[in-house]
Amino acid sequence: MPHDLLIVGSGITGLYAALHARSLGLSVLLISKAKLESGSTFWAQGGLAFPTSPEDVEPHVQDTLRAGRGLCDEKTVRLFVEEAGQHLQKLLSYGVPFEGHQTLEGGHSHPRVFHAWGDASGRAVSVTLTQVVRDQGIEVLEGAFVQSLLLSESGRVVGVQTRNQNHLAGAVLLASGGFGQLYPVTTAPEEATGDGIALAYRAGAVLRDMEFVQFHPTVFLAGNRGLLITEAARGEGAVLLNGNMERFMQEYDPQGELAPRDVVARAIASEEAKTGRVYLDLRHLGAEFVQHRFPSIYERLLSHGVDISTEPVPVSPAVHYTIGGIFTDVDGKTTLEGLYAAGEVASSGLHGANRLASNSLPEGLVFGVRAVEAAHKSLKFESPVSRTQLETVGSKASVQQVIGAGAGINRTAETLRLALETLPEPGATDGSTIDTLEAGNLARVARTVLKGALDREESRGGHFRTDYPEPDEVRHSLFQIPPLLETL
Ligand code: SIN
Repeated sequence: MPHDLLIVGSGITGLYAALHARSLGLSVLLISKAKLESGSTFWAQGGLAFPTSPEDVEPHVQDTLRAGRGLCDEKTVRLFVEEAGQHLQKLLSYGVPFEGHQTLEGGHSHPRVFHAWGDASGRAVSVTLTQVVRDQGIEVLEGAFVQSLLLSESGRVVGVQTRNQNHLAGAVLLASGGFGQLYPVTTAPEEATGDGIALAYRAGAVLRDMEFVQFHPTVFLAGNRGLLITEAARGEGAVLLNGNMERFMQEYDPQGELAPRDVVARAIASEEAKTGRVYLDLRHLGAEFVQHRFPSIYERLLSHGVDISTEPVPVSPAVHYTIGGIFTDVDGKTTLEGLYAAGEVASSGLHGANRLASNSLPEGLVFGVRAVEAAHKSLKFESPVSRTQLETVGSKASVQQVIGAGAGINRTAETLRLALETLPEPGATDGSTIDTLEAGNLARVARTVLKGALDREESRGGHFRTDYPEPDEVRHSLFQIPPLLETL
């Protein structure tokens, strides 16, 4: 029996969309490749940006547009900020325990970032919404990897195929997150392998602006793992010091440590090159405040031998969020009938070339709900005749090494061309595993990142070309291939 709606992904977008679909009386199946409490939402620290009053709508719009460096869709931004507040109320009604004071983060002109459980805001949202989903008896499939989309004769997406089962529906919503795992060092969790983007691309959907990859400025590197130190730390007054123990951000931007993320990340990279190291210093905030406001970071870094309340923390920029994704309108509609996308998997026009801090979790709320509403109005049940092909690559590391070297925080035509030449080509093989399928998804996505970055001969937001350091034409990058399908 088909469901009305299949939702792939259990971050804030998937959980909240499932609850909304249920409130409309739809039968929903929520599919997650790990357990429900997983993915990027679960690890988000800083919080959720909401306008704090009707007077704060316009400043929030302007901050988002300014951070986006000319590439935001203003209509999308306005609609997002205007609708965000109602979802804050809904989250409160579900029991998300937001704390009383809001924090400043990079690029915001006003403290409007709501947080919960100190620096574990995403975990608070994930755990609370998961509980409501379970309480409402929404059907859930955990540990289920979606390997193909199912298409009808007319080309409509009519379901998904997990490793051992077909699931049919009147519409499919991809809420499966980004592709931070394309890079060898990232704050993104293991699940972030670009699966939804690769699936939609193979089915013939248009992707957009894939070259815009956001580096978070303050990441503590523990071997290959990037441990995020939230921007809220700078919002509460933490400062950046270079290898000579001098502050430097004022030389790069009048907003200093609270400049938008692209500026701070590149300033840190530049100071690292000049002085060897950069540190985040929280000492002057007081040990009691630091341990109370940032309990998870304090404990995690202590386990790596660093006491953030008494010593400066070495930090570097690392990949944190992937801005490009499946091209959608403001209702989450992709270019394929029956397929919707929302959250980090999508390119809705909200973030432009550089996402404003803490806009991504509310994005999942606003556009997840809009996608459900749109899907509800055009449910259609057709039989599947084909599926997107399986594509594998031997190892994720083989893709990550190429991308890390070729499309990092600073790119040139030379590094990008070399990466394109050496990137493993995804191919169909027998005996696929989830690991090799994820690597195949990363390789499929990687080519679009490299191609977009090579073709964009300018610098803007998350895309910086040392051979073209200035902004040039305001334009989007679009990516599409003929569908890679096989008959069922
Ligand atoms: C952070 O806590 O610094 C991350 C916030 C975000 O990525 O929006």
